[in-house]
Amino acid sequence: MHNAQLKINKIRYMKNFKRTLVTTALPYANGPVHIGHLAGVYVPADIYVRYLRLKGEEVLFIGGSDEHGVPITIKAKKEGVTPQDIVDRYHGIIKKSFEELGISFDIYSRTTSKIHYETAADYFKKLYEKGEFVEKTSEQYYDEEAGQFLADRYITGTCPHCKNPNAYGDQCEACGTSLSPLDLIEPKSAISGSKPVLRETKHWYLPLDKHEAWLRQWILEDHKEWKTNVYGQCKSWIDMGLQPRAVSRDLDWGVPVPVEGADGKVLYVWFDAPIGYISNTKELLPNDWEKWWKDESTRMLHFIGKDNIVFHCIVFPAMLKADGSYILPDNVPANEFLNLEGDKISTSRNWAVWLHEYLEEFPGKQDVLRYVLTANAPETKDNDFTWKDFQTRNNSELVAIFGNFINRALVLTHKYFNGVVPALGELTDYDRETLKEFADVKADVESYLDNFRFRDAQKEAMNLARIGNKYLADTEPWKLAKTDMARTATILHIGLQIAANLAIAFEPFLPFSAKKLRGMLGMETFSWNDLGSIELLKEGAQLGETQLLFDKIEDSVVEAQVQKLLDTKKANELAAYKPAEVKPNVAFDEWEKTDIRVATVLECTKVPKADKLLQFKLDDGMGGRTIVSGIAQSYPNPEELVGTQVLFIANFEPRKLKGVVSEGMILSAVDADGKLVLCRPQREVKPGCSVG
Ligand code: 2FM
Ligand code: ZN
Repeated sequence: MHNAQLKINKIRYMKNFKRTLVTTALPYANGPVHIGHLAGVYVPADIYVRYLRLKGEEVLFIGGSDEHGVPITIKAKKEGVTPQDIVDRYHGIIKKSFEELGISFDIYSRTTSKIHYETAADYFKKLYEKGEFVEKTSEQYYDEEAGQFLADRYITGTCPHCKNPNAYGDQCEACGTSLSPLDLIEPKSAISGSKPVLRETKHWYLPLDKHEAWLRQWILEDHKEWKTNVYGQCKSWIDMGLQPRAVSRDLDWGVPVPVEGADGKVLYVWFDAPIGYISNTKELLPNDWEKWWKDESTRMLHFIGKDNIVFHCIVFPAMLKADGSYILPDNVPANEFLNLEGDKISTSRNWAVWLHEYLEEFPGKQDVLRYVLTANAPETKDNDFTWKDFQTRNNSELVAIFGNFINRALVLTHKYFNGVVPALGELTDYDRETLKEFADVKADVESYLDNFRFRDAQKEAMNLARIGNKYLADTEPWKLAKTDMARTATILHIGLQIAANLAIAFEPFLPFSAKKLRGMLGMETFSWNDLGSIELLKEGAQLGETQLLFDKIEDSVVEAQVQKLLDTKKANELAAYKPAEVKPNVAFDEWEKTDIRVATVLECTKVPKADKLLQFKLDDGMGGRTIVSGIAQSYPNPEELVGTQVLFIANFEPRKLKGVVSEGMILSAVDADGKLVLCRPQREVKPGCSVG
């Protein structure tokens, strides 16, 4: 990759900045985090921060839980607990699972902390006093049964754009459109189900329209280097014309609006959440936080998912500008979404791979998940996670390339040189070529990382292992060891230097494995700037003990994960099942005409050339009969039905199906998932018995 464009971010950075502040979207504490969050935000941010730290740069990595907002209060109500109980539970789970995955935050705090309440209230007060808000009274939906206003997700209805009947007051999840409650067709309260009425209420608005001119210049002219997905979304928002946005809500969960006459009103969650980045910095560095937020030589980056772009590129910058003493983000490298096995990840449908469950079910395999999520990161478009791909990337890349190379280099050194780094002798042209090739890797990995292209960066780092593998395969030191020990020493010396380079290059991506590898190589100190060096290990140095870096993942392991997802799908279908409407009434004498009987299955076979049909030979107590039934897909082993009893309509007009005359109809229930289940008497009865 020799693309001048890729140098832009690096040059900007080197010119203007002394330190980097990295923030990651604060996940809502109404559920655990899943692979979508990780691939979109936390893994790339962690790679970037580890890379900067390794280069010896000054960097601060801020995370935390977003603990306000209507979804949290709805969940609390459903469970009969307080919102604080909900956020305490999930903040704990999220924080622990991030730690275990090696997401190396300098602080992971929360928006229910005292310091956050104070910081958010002060922020609002300053803007209020500066006259940066517009106060407006408007009509909003009110639930008379529940006695409260219905903000955001407290109201549902039909989306005016795609007609999804379950759209929320702030967004339609089916078509992704941002909505306001008044846009919904047939609005309904999510609390009582009743039809809401309109009532007047006062709120404070951030007049984004007044910020439009500078935002247009700042993003569309001064930040053309932003990712195209981010730039494009900003452009379309700005081109549509920015509207004032309410920064308060009528709710009892959140930071109270700190002005008189605001009883029962709290800050809108999207007003207080980004201030959480500031509060968390303050909590960590009470005396030094301003340098990170107010000094022009700090470079601020927000790592987020695409649904957060407008808030981080338009609303939060307008809040920062309105205050006047803060810096603005230099870049917002937002990602698209990760899907799971072809379907959108969904917390409410439990369609996700949850991080805390992964950590429990795959102990010691944090780096495998980090690797796969980076290899598949949704950087420019939505991407799909599949368990099959997870297994393949582990087995054919981590095990077969990276692990195999390290294992070979170390095992051979232990075998022929007692685990001591052997001497470098004379180099051949092939050695020189190999060394040159891996020296280039550093510049390429850096260039990709500087441009937030983590997939390519990791691929490039993996090339080091490919180079090493090829080098050992081509030079075959295990054969040479029989005849030429000096040459064997040179080859293994080079192999070990490549291994040491891998231990540095992979530190940002796979920190657990890189650490393990450094242990095996006896590397005590390391720095990014050493990458590309062939003097990382000194001749005569003692290596540590060799262990396997990665191990194979068996089919049964991923099959169990796929089964877990299939079970979820089934449970969702069952939960969503609504019985069909009852057909019009039938008079008794009409009903009586249907003759239902019991029979015992004598034979049951598939009808040739018909996927859906089974042919039954029945003992009906009346000399026997044949019935063809369309249940083959629900009963793949028809022979298992022999000897069981079924119910059938005995006076159903005979008809020919695929050349077989069917003398009746066998009764089945249709389950929620569409599977057919045969009906039979609760205990065996005489064939031919009537049912009624
Ligand atoms: O979309 C979300 O999950 C939000 N909780 C992100 C908030 S980011 C920041 F502003 F705190
Ligand atoms: Zn819609």
